[in-house]
Amino acid sequence: SAATLVSMGTIEVVLGDITRQEVDIVVTAANESLLGGGGVDGAVHRAAGPRLAEAGARLAPCEPGKAVATPAFGLAPVKHVIHTVGPVWEGGEHGEDEVLTSCYVESLRLAGELGARSIAFPAIATGIYGFPAERAARIAVQSIRSLPIIDMSRLVAFDQETYEVLTRSV
Ligand code: APR
Repeated sequence: SAATLVSMGTIEVVLGDITRQEVDIVVTAANESLLGGGGVDGAVHRAAGPRLAEAGARLAPCEPGKAVATPAFGLAPVKHVIHTVGPVWEGGEHGEDEVLTSCYVESLRLAGELGARSIAFPAIATGIYGFPAERAARIAVQSIRSLPIIDMSRLVAFDQETYEVLTRSV
C-alpha cells in the first residue's frame, strides 16, 4: 500500500544556535531599522554578512508585527532570512500578544509565498524585548498550528530554560 504521508505543520523544538540550522528560512528577531542588533539578530547578521543589513535597509522601517524577507547571503544553504519585529513588553495589556502572534503569522505567510518547506524561529521578543517566555511559547505554537503552511517549523531555543518552556508548549 503506497500511502502518501502528508504532514503539514510539524513543529520541532531544538536547543541550539539558529545560524546552524539546515532550513529554507531563518527568522530573526529584528528591530524596525533592519540593520541588525544584539541577541539573535546580531548572530544572524554576523553569519549572513554585511549584505544582510544593506538589503534590510532597503526594506526598512519594519513595524512591530510585520515581516520582510531578504536573501540569506552567507547563511546559505538557507535561502532567505525573514526579519520580524516583536513587541516590546509593556506589561501585557498593550497589544503585545497580538503583535507577537502577527510576527509568527506574517512570517509563515511570507515563507509560504517563497515556497519554503522548512523554517526556524527564535523565541521572538523574549530577550531584549522582555516578553515572558512561557506566554511567548504558547503564542508561537498556537500561531504555527493555526497556519499549517510550512511542512516543518523548528523552534530554536538558545538556552536550556527556553528549551524546556518550548517543549512543554508543543
Ligand atoms: N540562536 C537562537 N536564539 C538566540 C540566539 C541564537 N544564536 N541568540 C540569542 N537567541 C535567543 C535569546 O536567548 C532569546 O531567547 O533569541 C531570543 C530572542 O532574544 P533577542 O535576540 O534579544 O530578541 P528580542 O527580545 O526580540 O529583542 C529584539 O534585540 O537584537 C536586538 O535588533 C534586535 O532591537 C532588537 C531586539
